[in-house]
Amino acid sequence: MPLIPQPPPLAGGALLDRLHAINAEHGYLPESALRSAADELGAPLSQLYSTASFYASFGFEPRGRHTIRVCLGTACYIRGGDKLLEKLTATLGVEPGETTDDRLFTLETVYCVGSCSMSPVIRVDGDTYGRLRADRLPRILKKYRPAEEPEA
Ligand code: FES
Repeated sequence: MPLIPQPPPLAGGALLDRLHAINAEHGYLPESALRSAADELGAPLSQLYSTASFYASFGFEPRGRHTIRVCLGTACYIRGGDKLLEKLTATLGVEPGETTDDRLFTLETVYCVGSCSMSPVIRVDGDTYGRLRADRLPRILKKYRPAEEPEA
């Protein structure tokens, strides 16, 4: 028996549904939304954090509109995945796990996306770019940047 009274455990589905709803609305799990959800569900905030921490699909920091995943799996790494990451960190000014100040890109590393025959590979949202060289990255990034306003 616990020394400190604990609330009854929540059904995992209800809690997860709520976390997914918050994530869909904000793109991450802001503390204020987690606090509100904990109050409404009658659950300790720590339970929401511990559940959310278990799943890689949840994050606690704002994310960019687009997620760039650089593959550093063996096939990609030996064919220059590290050079792609180097170029992206220099170009975007962020390290893996970080989001650009304009909230356009979040940079991440992954270890194999199942496209080894196309290595080295990056993924931007759902798009895969393979047999990639660092000099092609600016053109790829440009596709995801908002169109510039035409000059008057
Ligand atoms: S190692 Fe990069 S796709 Fe498999």
